[in-house]
Amino acid sequence: MSPQVHVLPTPADVASELATRTADALRAALATEPRASLCLTGGSTPAPAYRQLATLDAIAWDRVHVFWGDERAVGPDHADSNYRLACETLLNALDLPEANLHRIEGERGAEAAAYHYEQVLLSFFGAESVTFDVLHLGMGGDGHTASLFPGSPALAEMKRYTVDTVAPPASPIRDRVSLTFPVLNSARTTLIAAHGEGKREAFAAALDAFDDPETPPSPPVAKIRPESGLTWLIDRELASGLNGDPEPVV
Ligand code: 6PG
Repeated sequence: MSPQVHVLPTPADVASELATRTADALRAALATEPRASLCLTGGSTPAPAYRQLATLDAIAWDRVHVFWGDERAVGPDHADSNYRLACETLLNALDLPEANLHRIEGERGAEAAAYHYEQVLLSFFGAESVTFDVLHLGMGGDGHTASLFPGSPALAEMKRYTVDTVAPPASPIRDRVSLTFPVLNSARTTLIAAHGEGKREAFAAALDAFDDPETPPSPPVAKIRPESGLTWLIDRELASGLNGDPEPVV
């Protein structure tokens, strides 16, 4: 199933769309299930969306369980922690029970944290499959997603649900923990938000490689191909110059 691409006029519109779609998907899940699972991403793109999501009504947050798609090998108070970012932009504003927050414990070190988080996932979802109701992803300018970077052996991991990975030398924190494609391709609703011309090349390469993601140098994000469908939320700046120069979907 080819990805849906929604082009919004500005990064602020991308954030609003991510928040709105997340709220709609959580409400739908909670309408039929006792609990819902939301997997957050790191990076700067989702921050305004998370601040907006915290203000939306009619979400039974006490029944929402929150997970992370990746984390740096740092503690929860570290400036580069994805958990800390989520607390500052979303979670501190909500009254989620502590038991609903399933943090990647980066302070254990990447390898130990990866093994520990796999047990967290198994105990919540069971051994059959780890299927989030809503999965957020971002994309770097090199086409990485979560902490799955070009050329990483983790790209080939099809059995484990979590791995320890190493970010490129320019990254402030190189030791990472990431979910793997078996998990990242299992969510019921998968939303990738990206904006800016710096990601245009990686996005174009991801779309080009969608039909053949195993052929290098397809970017890691090209391997995000959930059966339930994938939705890209991008802004006009990123989209401009792409084939057909898609008009914003407002
Ligand atoms: C992280 C994310 C990572 C992020 C991209 C885009 O932990 O940083 O998981 O995959 O989504 O690097 O980051 P920006 O949103 O800051 O461009």
